[in-house]
Amino acid sequence: MRDAAALARFDQEVALRDGTRVRVRPIRGDDAPRLVALYEHLSGDTRYQRFFSMMRRLPPDWARFLAEVDYTQRFALVAEAPDDPGTLIAVARYEPAGEPGTVEVAFVVQDAWQGRGLGTVLFRELLRAAAANGFRRFRAWVLSENRRMLALIARHGTVEQRAFDGGVVELTFVAPPLSPSSSLETSA
Ligand SMILES: CC(C)(COP(=O)(O)OP(=O)(O)OC[C@H]1O[C@@H](n2cnc3c(N)ncnc32)[C@H](O)[C@@H]1OP(=O)(O)O)[C@@H](O)C(=O)NCCC(=O)NCCS
Repeated sequence: MRDAAALARFDQEVALRDGTRVRVRPIRGDDAPRLVALYEHLSGDTRYQRFFSMMRRLPPDWARFLAEVDYTQRFALVAEAPDDPGTLIAVARYEPAGEPGTVEVAFVVQDAWQGRGLGTVLFRELLRAAAANGFRRFRAWVLSENRRMLALIARHGTVEQRAFDGGVVELTFVAPPLSPSSSLETSA
């Protein structure tokens, strides 16, 4: 998605289940320090569910890599805290999965914001961005006890394959075709 107007459609205010409005936008290179700060504010469980490791902090080099995407082969959306746009509360991303037409997805929502519908919004918007870039097949690695993430995928995707390996499920799924107007209630 090299067209600025197309990318701008992913910068929007979304309404969570309780009515809270949150800005979701494409990630930017200058978000790297905000990703480091977000990681610091994640619980141990959330860190492990997202990264499968117990790193004490997100290395700045890795944060820079995560923040700098080309919006086509690599894409990420972030959500800003409503009362503090300099604080990120969630990230959704896809990366090449090493197979044509397939991308690997990953999500994290800061603990205090979990269970309020933000993950669902990000899931749908990320899949919409992927579809705009020609990707309709997805891969995710999820801890087998991670009911929330598994529920999200089962509700919004069609799982084609599941492979279990040491407490981790590798899921391959496809998304139903989404029209540009089928995102959750939003306002530009
Ligand atoms: C997984 C995660 C991204 C989901 O985001 P979220 O904002 O908490 O998700 P939502 O509030 O939109 O809820 C998602 C689904 O989980 C369900 N859910 C909510 N709370 C739940 C709970 N305590 N137990 C089980 N399911 C729950 C919701 O009903 C919803 O399912 P539905 O669409 O079938 O109704 C978020 O919880 C998170 O960051 N977890 C830690 C990191 C992680 O697991 N990443 C995934 C690795 S790819």
